[in-house]
Amino acid sequence: MLNLIIFGPPGAGKGTQSERLLQQYSLQHISTGDLLRAERAAGTDLGNQANEYIAKGELVPDAVVIGMVKNFMLAHTEAKGFIFDGFPRTTPQAEALDAMLADFNTQISIVLGLEVNEDELVKRLLLRGQSSGRADDQDESTIRNRFQEYQNKTLPLQGFYQSQGKYQGVQGIGEVGAIYDSLCAEIDKVLG
Ligand code: C5P
Ligand code: MG
Repeated sequence: MLNLIIFGPPGAGKGTQSERLLQQYSLQHISTGDLLRAERAAGTDLGNQANEYIAKGELVPDAVVIGMVKNFMLAHTEAKGFIFDGFPRTTPQAEALDAMLADFNTQISIVLGLEVNEDELVKRLLLRGQSSGRADDQDESTIRNRFQEYQNKTLPLQGFYQSQGKYQGVQGIGEVGAIYDSLCAEIDKVLG
């Protein structure tokens, strides 16, 4: 299996690049943000609980997100591989993911980190907010809170995956196609 993590701060381009990569490599896309928003749209208890966190730009508790990913993976046992987008966000989530993949007799192949500076991210998120309808993309203080959560809880995962020899940073500013080509080049090195 080829299992990718597309890593980076909010607005780095994780969703955009995932859409292209999953077609190229025939992978299943797991976007935990999309799954949470779908739960919210369906009005489930999980969705309603998650919305309290999403609206403030805070992270949903680990157990909730991990359970959701586990259900998704169990529903897609035929997958050739997964692309994890927006997950893991914390060290306990990364440890749980390693354990879940081990249960599938597989592991993370590579972690691709999209590197984009904060001024560019704010610009992108506010622009996306104009068309996405996402309230958390429209309010600058919520956006800042999401960055804070990223710095405190998610960025440490870079070290977690570096120590496994799996982290690869990629310049995330520029033309979408050029960034995609850099990501593919890194994946193709792993595939050998
Ligand atoms: O990944 P995305 O940016 O779409 O996530 C939007 C929001 O969903 C986050 O700001 C956070 O509130 C919530 N989320 C989370 N844990 C995840 C993924 C998303 O709490 N693993
Ligand atoms: Mg996204």
